[in-house]
Amino acid sequence: MINGLKPFSYSGRFITFEGIDGAGKSTHIQFVTDLLREKGYQLVVTREPGGTALGEKLRDLLLHDKMNLETEALLMFAARREHIAEVIEPALKRGDWVISDRFTDASFAYQGGGRGLDLDKMRQLEAWVHPHLQPDLTFLFDVSPEVAQSRLEAARSPDKFEREKADFFNRVRHEYLRRAEEFPNRFRVIDSSRSIGAIRETIKELIGEMD
Ligand code: TMP
Repeated sequence: MINGLKPFSYSGRFITFEGIDGAGKSTHIQFVTDLLREKGYQLVVTREPGGTALGEKLRDLLLHDKMNLETEALLMFAARREHIAEVIEPALKRGDWVISDRFTDASFAYQGGGRGLDLDKMRQLEAWVHPHLQPDLTFLFDVSPEVAQSRLEAARSPDKFEREKADFFNRVRHEYLRRAEEFPNRFRVIDSSRSIGAIRETIKELIGEMD
């Protein structure tokens, strides 16, 4: 046992959703949860940063307050540590499926790719905070920053990240795609510029492969 985390041996499944802001993942999370519930799985649907009372307070700071880049990365991982200990691991141990709107890939993509924090620092944080836990499946909703931006303009008032420029989101997207290449077994990259119907068909097939 390292850092209080047991080696990964859960009966539940851990599925994460990733993509740049405006990639449309929220719409599809709802579809996946409906699909899995129909199949009879017990689900815990959660998000990062957030997912616990403390994590939601940290989310508020992270999304709205200006801070040093390393502070931002550390707070993301602090919220994540709480999330894993309080929500994710207990659920997986019970045999529930955990659906998380973002996880550590988002830190690599946003703090690493987007803001330029050394990826080795991120790897150290990952090794400290969850040495044995990785998602079983990660849906990466991939779309150009231009398409994403046009979707965001129709939505709520933007937070700190959503106000970033296309350059930033190009770097975030690039790091997501690099991670998808590095971990092809768990990543499924979905072309999110397609229609909602077409994306749903793809998701159905991918979820079917997990049964
Ligand atoms: P959301 O809008 O998809 O809920 O995500 C909140 C924002 O937080 C989003 O802009 C991405 C950002 N984020 C990071 O920068 N690093 C992280 O580790 C996570 C989980 C989210």
